[in-house]
Amino acid sequence: MTNVFGAPHKGTGSPHEQVVFCQDEASGLRAIIAIYSTALGPALGGTRFYPYASEDEALADVLNLSKAMAYKNALAGLDHGGGKAVIIGDPATDKSEALLRAYGRFVQSLGGRYYTACDVGTYSEDMDVVARESRYVTGRTVANGGAGDSSVLTAFGVFQGMRAAAEATWGSPTLRGRRVGIEGVGKVGRRLVEHLREDGAEVVICDVDPAAIDRVRGRWPEVEVVADRDALIRADLDVYSPCALGGALSDETVPLLRAKVVCGAANNQLAHPGVEKRLADRGILYAPDYVVNAGGVIQVADEITGFDFERAKAKAAQIFDTTKRIFALAAEEGVPPAVAADRLAERRMTAVGRLRGIWLGG
Ligand SMILES: NC(=O)c1ccc[n+]([C@@H]2O[C@H](COP(=O)([O-])OP(=O)(O)OC[C@H]3O[C@@H](n4cnc5c(N)ncnc54)[C@H](O)[C@@H]3O)[C@@H](O)[C@H]2O)c1
Repeated sequence: MTNVFGAPHKGTGSPHEQVVFCQDEASGLRAIIAIYSTALGPALGGTRFYPYASEDEALADVLNLSKAMAYKNALAGLDHGGGKAVIIGDPATDKSEALLRAYGRFVQSLGGRYYTACDVGTYSEDMDVVARESRYVTGRTVANGGAGDSSVLTAFGVFQGMRAAAEATWGSPTLRGRRVGIEGVGKVGRRLVEHLREDGAEVVICDVDPAAIDRVRGRWPEVEVVADRDALIRADLDVYSPCALGGALSDETVPLLRAKVVCGAANNQLAHPGVEKRLADRGILYAPDYVVNAGGVIQVADEITGFDFERAKAKAAQIFDTTKRIFALAAEEGVPPAVAADRLAERRMTAVGRLRGIWLGG
């Protein structure tokens, strides 16, 4: 059994504030909402609908994911803490109006301490249903005031992070003339190709889905294609950009990498703690995943106050400066950028969260 209050999270500086188990037998709802921190404001993070093998597995996942959201939201400069929810079940067979609305009532019962949104297994249409029971829902359909596909700003943010890494590595924030390898040209990856081609970079791609490759080559016939991740990692690249699944950087892949920079959209790129050190030891600059892929959460956060694309884009553009600050701190404190990012996030949570101690009167 995962220990919510104890050992697995010791030393992280700030244990989870609240973990709520939600059950509605008739609709089959079994959900866990975890709030890691509200130091910066109401917790924000998506709802994952997934057929977990056990409640323990679901709990472990939601605890990790909610913590990750706190760090991501902090470095995205949002006034949001970190939270996440999991619904235990198969979205293909278990999702129903009653279940989603039951879930919405539990979200509402937290009184705004937690805002939910889409994640694996949930879509904007589902958020519209959840929102029939709760005010604290974002990531909704465009017809209902939602912001639409978040991959537009995610790709833009990753590109900003890559520009910062280019400046730190080659002295200028441009990818012109660089060879960038993108693993996974789905919603985010293919938009990233566009930014890179417009900036004058050479692009190499791989994807397990031939249709995804065709879509990119239809627009950019000059883009090179390689067979798979292994071929991409061994290719003569300046930048490696994981935009498919997690775990791209491991004890097996890092020694083979020829790129000087790693910067991509995929979540959880480091297969395990310690890989960030191996990258640093090889002189490879790693732009932390949760920093550069924050464009999506910036978008859903903006939607809470009425979506304005230009305002959200301006916020996502700040990923350039944030990534630079992380590299500078990493150099100053002699730690890998992934460690510097965590430190910066923790410092913002502490410095801003502390202000609640100033009594406002009334
Ligand atoms: N969409 C967003 O706004 C957003 C925000 C933050 C993070 N992310 C992360 O970015 C990544 C990409 O997101 P997306 O929305 O583009 O997803 P997507 O499903 O649209 O695209 C992923 C692509 O990767 C390909 N792929 C899967 N396995 C592969 C493999 N082994 N090798 C090569 N290609 C493979 C798929 O065929 C697909 O084309 C995911 O890890 C996601 O969690 C996305």
